[in-house]
Amino acid sequence: MATVKSFKNHNAVSVESLAGKDFLTIADFTSEEINYLIDEAIELKKQQKEGVPHPHLAGKTLGMIFEKSSTRTRVSFEVGMLQLGGNAIFLSSKDIQLGRGEPIEDTAKVLSRYVDGLMIRTFAHESIEEFAKHASIPVINGLTDLHHPAQVLADLMTIKEYKGKLSGLNICYIGDGNNNMCHSLLEGAAITGMNIKVASPEGYEPDGNIYDNASEIADQQGGSVEFTYNPLKAAEGADVIVTDVWASMGQEEEQEKRIKAFKDYQVNQSLCSKADAGFIFLHCLPAHRGEEVTTEILDGIHSVVFDEAENRLHAQKALMKNLMNL
Ligand code: CP
Ligand code: NVA
Repeated sequence: MATVKSFKNHNAVSVESLAGKDFLTIADFTSEEINYLIDEAIELKKQQKEGVPHPHLAGKTLGMIFEKSSTRTRVSFEVGMLQLGGNAIFLSSKDIQLGRGEPIEDTAKVLSRYVDGLMIRTFAHESIEEFAKHASIPVINGLTDLHHPAQVLADLMTIKEYKGKLSGLNICYIGDGNNNMCHSLLEGAAITGMNIKVASPEGYEPDGNIYDNASEIADQQGGSVEFTYNPLKAAEGADVIVTDVWASMGQEEEQEKRIKAFKDYQVNQSLCSKADAGFIFLHCLPAHRGEEVTTEILDGIHSVVFDEAENRLHAQKALMKNLMNL
């Protein structure tokens, strides 16, 4: 059974103020900043459980633009703002003028006059970069086709809670190497000094630039980045096993093709038997039981997926507290 470790937070690391910054990718921040946010998230979680009020964003408003579906991201950002004493406004792109062709530039400038931060879930990563360029308030990535950094911040927090540390751990990602989760995990693992191995089938390798950048960061942080086509090799000795859906949002029509391509990349008992005996299993959810992961593993004793989902709330509160506290 996976159990949470007790350990000392080392909030002592001093970081420059993050106020006003955007969070578009994990690599936008330094290793110190990411570690600081993780520790701050753990502290905010404790305060929330103990009923200690923490209204750091009283009177502030977060705008949330969604161009894709969401359960966790929408609810955790919205509840997070409420717990920080502020408000959140859900903006479906279908219902705002953006969906009828109003330029991103104008939308970003207008919303900057009303709200104190913008969370955006969209398709092309360039769209969120365009928002960030024209907004005068912090822009937070709630998932693009290329990155999902808010999820990975929560994943790193979850790993730290269970393993008591990040640096030096062996983590593997099995499945679609070319998606948002794998890309942000490559950066998150590298920046925290973990050793990450990615296993994907041919044609689904990670983006070359993101992979090379993660390798460089890993070198600086004393970790490593490796790619293999062999999932069993990637899982060998892993402390953490991560996977994600084989067809992401926007790839629904490729579902059948992808089921065939990924059939040997399922996280199941046989793959997990290669890992360290105390491994934990993470999945950002929603999951497709019987495809990328078996029910036995997803609902089994090594799985921490619901703590991981809960930690979206705490990690994003730490993020918003620091970015939006202007
Ligand atoms: N993991 C995640 O981002 O979930 P939602 O799509 O439900 O927001
Ligand atoms: N890779 C998945 C993550 C969902 C949270 C997708 O983009 O659909």
